[in-house]
Formats: sequence, structure tokens, C-alpha cells
Amino acid sequence: MIFPQSRKRTPAEQRIPLPLPPALHYNTAMISFQNVSKKFGSHLVLDDITFYIDKNEFVILTGSSGAGKSTVIALLIGAEKPTHGVIEVDDMHISDMDTSTLQLLRRKIGVVYQDYKLLDKKTVFENVAFAMEVCNEDDDKIKERVPEVLEKVGLLHFQDKFPDELSGGEKQRLSIARALVHNPYLIIADEPTGNLDEENVRGIIHLLQKLHKEGATVLLTTHDPKVKELVKGRMLTLEKGKIN
Ligand SMILES: Nc1ncnc2c1ncn2[C@@H]1O[C@H](COP(=O)(O)OP(=O)(O)OP(=O)(O)O)[C@@H](O)[C@H]1O
Ligand SMILES: [Mg+2]
Repeated sequence: MIFPQSRKRTPAEQRIPLPLPPALHYNTAMISFQNVSKKFGSHLVLDDITFYIDKNEFVILTGSSGAGKSTVIALLIGAEKPTHGVIEVDDMHISDMDTSTLQLLRRKIGVVYQDYKLLDKKTVFENVAFAMEVCNEDDDKIKERVPEVLEKVGLLHFQDKFPDELSGGEKQRLSIARALVHNPYLIIADEPTGNLDEENVRGIIHLLQKLHKEGATVLLTTHDPKVKELVKGRMLTLEKGKIN
């Protein structure tokens, strides 16, 4: 379900006709990749992979650099199309979804990027607020919601600082706050601990585990053995285009 019946649909959502596209298959999976291949030119990055991630699972996707972890994520959020195969998120086909429906679904997927993707000229508060402004949320809702998510990641006291004034761990927590602003049911974190020291790695993992306990499905990619030791979750490994 993208639109809970309990709340009023925003103007952007009202432009999208209901019901949403029906799923081909019904299952309990939050994510399903069925016989998915992805080629960039002649380079076959993913070779006929099939996997499922259940609702409220915590899954770690590992694999060496260049194995295709970020490609899996790009396919999952519809930023790339598969060369073959079917991808579903919450029983909805990502591969044939039109752009506007995809944008609505993406609000329910919180993505945390390895390189943070923060806006340098905006404050901590404004970086999070911006994710709501682009969805035409009203000012009152923004003023209420932004402090809530900053509090959750322990950055409320830094709300007037700029990204340049934050440490790596704080920047990563800000990017998590931004990913949480629409209350996503799926959180995808691509190497969120890439450049962090052990204390900050623990902090980020702890935060993701807290969100998981609160009901989110979490997919975390890493090639860091330290992270694999710290996280309790199912491990999927990408190697030579295949998944194990
Ligand atoms: N848009 C693209 N165009 C062409 N090739 C691409 C593109 N995106 C990824 N690739 C190639 O696909 C392969 C997998 O890349 P990907 O970024 O998914 O790896 P990764 O497992 O995330 O690596 P890392 O751990 O370094 O982040 C690489 O060889 C990369 O060069
Ligand atoms: Mg990557």
C-alpha cells in the first residue's frame, strides 16, 4: 500500500489514479528480484539473479568493489531498468512503473547514499526540509516533522549548522534523517559506513537496527568485514554476477 487510507492524499498524490498498478504475483516479500540481469554495454554485471527479502527483514548485501551492489540498489529504486527480469517492491512492479508512480513509491523508500548527497549551502534543518518541500508538503508539517527526525538521529542540536561543519558520522546521520522524513517502510543504505571510524560505524548500525525494530525493512550494502561482524542479519553475497 502506498497510500494509507487513514490520511488525506497530498495534491501530488491526488493526480495519480487509484488503484495502483496490480502486482503480477502476490507474496510476502518486500523486495523480489526474479531472473534479473543487468548489462552496461557488453558488461554483464548481474547474471540472472533471483532473491527475495521479506517484510521487516534486515539483510546485508556484500560483495567486492564492482560486484554490483549499487547496481542492485539503482534497479530497486527504478533509477536503472533491468536488461531482463522482474523487480517488485511491496508487490508493485518497479520495472514497468511510470515516472510519477515511481516518484510516489520512492517516498516510501528511504535511501542513504555512500557519498551523502547533502546540499552544502543549506543548513542541517534545511537539508531535511528540502526533501519535504520537493513533495509539496506544507510548512506547518515541515516544521513539525524535521525536528522529529533530527532528534531521532541525535542531530537536533546541530540544526543550524552547515554540512561542512559536521563530521563524517554526523553527515551520514543527517543523510539518514533525510531518508526517514517520509516515514519509509523500506530503508536502503548503500555503504553507509564507508568512510567512518569504528565508533561511528557502531552508531550508524545501531541506528539502522533501531529503525528495523520499529518495523522497517532494511537493506544494507557493505564490503567491510567489520560491519558484517557487527550486524545480525541475513547475508546475501554478489560474486561474478551471481547472488548466494
Ligand atoms: N551507469 C553505468 N554505466 C556503465 N557501467 C556501470 C554503470 N554503473 C555501474 N557500472 C559498472 O557496473 C559494475 C558494478 O558497479 P557497482 O557500482 O554496482 O558496484 P559496487 O558493488 O557497488 O562497487 P563498490 O563497492 O565499489 O561501490 C562496475 O564494473 C561498474 O563500472
Ligand atoms: Mg557501490
